[in-house]
Amino acid sequence: MRNIVLIGFMGSGKSSIGRSLAKKLGLEYIDTDTMIEKKKGKSISEIFRVEGEEYFRKLEKEIVEKVSEYNNKIIACGGGVALDDLNVLNLKKNGVLVYLSVDPSIIIERVKNSTDRPLLEVEDKEKEAKRLFEQREKKYINATDVIVDAGNTPINKIAEQILQSVKGILNDD
Ligand code: S3P
Repeated sequence: MRNIVLIGFMGSGKSSIGRSLAKKLGLEYIDTDTMIEKKKGKSISEIFRVEGEEYFRKLEKEIVEKVSEYNNKIIACGGGVALDDLNVLNLKKNGVLVYLSVDPSIIIERVKNSTDRPLLEVEDKEKEAKRLFEQREKKYINATDVIVDAGNTPINKIAEQILQSVKGILNDD
C-alpha cells in the first residue's frame, strides 16, 4: 500500500491523528520532525536557534526524500513540508497526501501557548499564526490529494474519515 501522508498547519493534529491511523491499520507511524531530531541529536527548536531555518529546511528535504521511498507507512509531516514543490512531488510518488483542514481560530487556540514551535517564538504568537496560516492555506490545498476537516472532532472519527476518503484512491492503484 502507498503511504498516507498527513500535511497541514502546526496544531492541525497530524501527529495524534497519524498515530490513531497507524494503530487502526497496524502500520508504522513516522514523523518527519522526529526523524530530523534523531538524525541531528537535537530538538527542532535547537536546530532553528543554532543553525537557522534554511538549514532546517535542507534537513527536512533530505528526510522527505528518504521517507518518500517507503511504503505502507503513515507519515506526519512538519507544517512546512508541503510548501515546497519538490517535497510534494517526492511524497506523491508513493503516497496519498491528506490535508488536515482546521479553522484558523481553532489552530490559534491550540498553538498560542506552545513553546516548541520556533516560527511562533515572536511577541504576538496569535497574530503570527494567523499571518502564516493565510500565507500557506492555498499551498496546502493545491498540494493535497484529499482534504479532511480536522476541526474539533474526536481524533478517532477524523481517522475514520481519512480512511474512507483514501480508500477509493488506494483501491485504484
Ligand atoms: C514548522 C512546523 C513544525 C516544525 C517546524 C516548522 C512549520 O512542525 O516542522 O517548527 O514550518 O510549520 P509541526 O507542524 O508538527 O508543528
